[in-house]
Amino acid sequence: MLFAGVDKKDAQRLKKFLDKHGLIAHEYPVFSEDSKVFFPVINNFSDDTFELEFVEKELPKKTTKSFSELVKDRFGDVPVRKSFDILGKIAVLEIPKELDKHAHEIGELFLKAYPHVETVVKKVGAHEGEFRVQKFEVIAGMPNFEAEYVENGCRFRLDISKMYFSPRLGSERLRIAKQVKPDEKVLAMFSGYSPYPITILKHSKPCCVYAIELNPDAHKYALLNKEINHIGDELKLINGDVVVEVPKLVDSVGLFDRILMPLPKTGNSFLKTAFSAVKDKGIIHFYYFLKEEDIPNKGWEIISKEAEKSNVSVERISHTVCGQVGKRLYRVCFDFRVLK
Ligand SMILES: C[S@@+](CC[C@H](N)C(=O)[O-])C[C@H]1O[C@@H](n2cnc3c(N)ncnc32)[C@H](O)[C@@H]1O
Repeated sequence: MLFAGVDKKDAQRLKKFLDKHGLIAHEYPVFSEDSKVFFPVINNFSDDTFELEFVEKELPKKTTKSFSELVKDRFGDVPVRKSFDILGKIAVLEIPKELDKHAHEIGELFLKAYPHVETVVKKVGAHEGEFRVQKFEVIAGMPNFEAEYVENGCRFRLDISKMYFSPRLGSERLRIAKQVKPDEKVLAMFSGYSPYPITILKHSKPCCVYAIELNPDAHKYALLNKEINHIGDELKLINGDVVVEVPKLVDSVGLFDRILMPLPKTGNSFLKTAFSAVKDKGIIHFYYFLKEEDIPNKGWEIISKEAEKSNVSVERISHTVCGQVGKRLYRVCFDFRVLK
């Protein structure tokens, strides 16, 4: 089989070129070696804008075996996590330490099992800092961190290396979106690349959603996602700190019917801001990380304590466990009404 290789930095551009000219032999896998990515091509070609290297290589056609079968065939029973995320053409894997030296090979097996995936990355460390960003390393395929994926009928583009993301929250976002009543004024704090606001606007009919995000890169993608989902003026995107922006918003547009607080690690320190911005009988969706044994009581205690300090009371609606984030550690969403 003939493969056309280029330096990783040009791989994306070459892929576009090959797609455009119908040159890719789709039944064969893409592979990477050293600093180059090689695409299977149906014939030789030339283009002065690339430094091309053509190689003949006997590779089996793409397989129909599952990823875990391929891993088992190659490594036996090893603890490669069966859970992974696919965001369009990028797959995010967790590679256990003991298999790290085989990361590239595992990534190549993934590309075989999921032919539409072009890039496989591994997680390097946990979510960090104020922006809750995680580090990734490309282990196979094309070097690319910009993903585009579809969730609940919405299309999202984001750079996974520059902002928080979790496609596993799709059903939770829909759960919230479906609670939004016609003409509600919604405030989405910590809105990231805007998955919550856009899901709400696609599935319900609020009068407007105000979204506040601190990370400028996430804000940039939120603007783009607003455009590609054909959302109009009903979504107002603000790049800033909720502590600074919320009082200004309340002054200009008044209080909110519903407030979302998807910042489970430190969200409790923003409850005061949310209480100041919600209408009497308005609803707050507050996310928090809790150990198994603390669900839900510790969460309700934290909310009640903060409510007392803000001179409001809280009427509990429900709590929803929406994801395991560590050993016996869970993300929980508390839905409650605020009485002023
Ligand atoms: C857990 S992420 C959730 C992002 C998004 N809602 C989603 O579901 O993908 C929390 C977000 O809050 C942002 N953030 C942290 N502190 C903030 C603050 N004080 N004001 C506004 N945004 C903040 C972070 O940059 C991050 O994007």
